[in-house]
Amino acid sequence: MKNLIMKVVSVALVGAMGFAIAGCGSSAKKLTVEEGKLIMATNAFFPPYEFYEGDRIVGIDQEIASEVATRLGLELEIQDIEFDSIVAGVQSGKYDIGCAGMTVTEDRLKSVNFTVSYATGIQSVIVKEDSAITDVDALISGEYVVGVQQGTTGDIYMTDEIGDDRIERFNKGADAVLALTNGQVDAVVIDDQPAQAFVDANEGLTILSTPYAIEDYAMCVNKDNEELLNKINEALNAMIADGTVAAIIEEYIPSNG
Ligand code: ARG
Repeated sequence: MKNLIMKVVSVALVGAMGFAIAGCGSSAKKLTVEEGKLIMATNAFFPPYEFYEGDRIVGIDQEIASEVATRLGLELEIQDIEFDSIVAGVQSGKYDIGCAGMTVTEDRLKSVNFTVSYATGIQSVIVKEDSAITDVDALISGEYVVGVQQGTTGDIYMTDEIGDDRIERFNKGADAVLALTNGQVDAVVIDDQPAQAFVDANEGLTILSTPYAIEDYAMCVNKDNEELLNKINEALNAMIADGTVAAIIEEYIPSNG
């Protein structure tokens, strides 16, 4: 009797599976939001990863994503949005990928998947050249106000460390830096490469030699789209192995002067 029930159950299961597979085939799941396109969400005020050259968005992320798209036979379309909206937009299926010098964090992993990492970032502290803040400890223990880009790891870590009252949040990293030059905040915590670009573009600023946190950058992909994640990972791994990623990074961040 027991055997019979088992048989019935397994027959029912096979039937259900067949049905599921047939169902899958008939409404073939799309690889990307729009067929033939790879829609990338970014926040394009983050040199050298993404920034405007005229009305074109260029940079390390744009070049890497563009090469990934080519290898996948897709056309890259870039949408410039608030950094803070990227993860939610990928999660809700509005964009295929988020690619924005984005750090892989445990918290974001609850909402999206991340590809293999293609670059490293270091949270850094920018101060005025004559600032009394000489290291991260001084920044944390003093009564200083810190400027950050809303929703970035710099924001998350500093809020954790010194509390809301001493944080000023800006939509763009550049606005936080402007607030620093105006004396509205005492320091800016941001990724090392944009930090360097902002310091180069503004007189009288410097980066503390004590970095704050070392992070991995990756693209985020919708959790329900393992196929796209796997394809991008395959392309990225090949681009890492054949030197394409290193060459793109070297173009924007020359390692030896
Ligand atoms: N790496 C930081 C983070 O993931 C900052 C990234 C900001 N990127 C940008 N395109 N504005 O939170």
